[in-house]
Amino acid sequence: MKAALVCGAGGFIGSHLVKRLKRDGFWVRGVDLKFPDYTDTAADDFVIGDLRDQAVCDRIVDRRFDEVYQLAADMGGAGYIFTGENDATIMHNSALINLNMAERLYRRNIRRVFYSSSACIYPAHNQETPIRPICSEDSAYPAAPDSEYGWEKLFSERLFLAYNRNHGMQARIARYHNIFGPEGTWTGGKEKAPAAICRKVASAADGDAIEIWGDGTQTRSFLYIDECIEGTMRLTRSDFEGPVNIGSEEMISINQLVDLVADVAGKTIHKHHISGPLGVRGRTSDNSLIAQRLDWRPSRPLRAGIEQTYDWIDRQRKAALPSDKAMNS
Ligand code: NAD
Ligand code: GDD
Repeated sequence: MKAALVCGAGGFIGSHLVKRLKRDGFWVRGVDLKFPDYTDTAADDFVIGDLRDQAVCDRIVDRRFDEVYQLAADMGGAGYIFTGENDATIMHNSALINLNMAERLYRRNIRRVFYSSSACIYPAHNQETPIRPICSEDSAYPAAPDSEYGWEKLFSERLFLAYNRNHGMQARIARYHNIFGPEGTWTGGKEKAPAAICRKVASAADGDAIEIWGDGTQTRSFLYIDECIEGTMRLTRSDFEGPVNIGSEEMISINQLVDLVADVAGKTIHKHHISGPLGVRGRTSDNSLIAQRLDWRPSRPLRAGIEQTYDWIDRQRKAALPSDKAMNS
């Protein structure tokens, strides 16, 4: 039986990935600071541990894994990574995790490693307008990310590529573009726009206004979790080291996203634009390279994923309400 290690298995993408690996017949060890927030883990073995500690990394890489997925990171949406308040913590925590894990995996002679980088590595100057942002893989250098989170991701891409060159590791690197879906963070400050807007629309009455950061004309694309997992598995098992975008090319403005969620909810929702952390003006995935190298690209329409996600968040929200309010909401 093949074995896989998932670092960050208590998180959104990691917990979905564990389920997929189990379906594929793997024995799976997960590791994280915490268990998944919304489901039981599907892992055969789940270690609660801090990957900033080299001794924990030594302990969890105690056997030969056929595949290792390094997803653990200090991460969140615009409200977490663009305020500036968490910069030192993000860089310190995530860099330590990656430095520890890369060295430990090399020492155990583990070759097939997946590392989750981000679209946040792309230069800010190529994403200054909502239309036609440039996010092709070859545009990453000269580097000029707009967040320290993005700089750490770029450093860690280079770290894993150096282990490939110097130590024969076969790390595969994806640059994820805003992944969403059920069981993603939807409240608490780290949630991304799709979950935040689903939550706000679900909480609003028909005809209400909800708060939107910025003027809402900033653009993004959002990839549904199932397609993220599919792309991740295909890349990890391919002979292409990347870095490669795993994202959607269905770019929309945040205002259009609000309208889409409102339509799915069957509500009329007005927008109250307020100041808030914004990030780049425009961003979307460029899937030319993944289509060429993996003969695959995501194809699921955004609306289908939003329907699933809205339904899940609405149920979470109602479950969290006191019972008298839940009956009326
Ligand atoms: P997430 O926050 O849900 O999962 C990350 C997990 O890492 C969390 O469960 C967290 O507890 C764990 N972790 C953090 N520090 C740790 C430590 N010191 N030791 C052990 N575990 C630790 O995030 P996610 O959305 O599942 O993202 C997974 C990966 O993909 C991250 O590396 C993230 O930066 C990257 N990424 C995600 C997106 C996205 O839109 N979700 C976009 C770009 C890149
Ligand atoms: N989170 C959030 N909540 N964003 C909002 C809201 C809100 O209530 N209202 C408007 N927005 C706007 C943000 O200001 C931003 O301009 C846009 O929606 C998208 O925000 P996020 O989804 O939070 O983050 P992002 O797309 O800028 O960055 C995310 O994706 C990257 C990969 O593409 C982050 O999750 C990064 O960590 C990730 O690497």
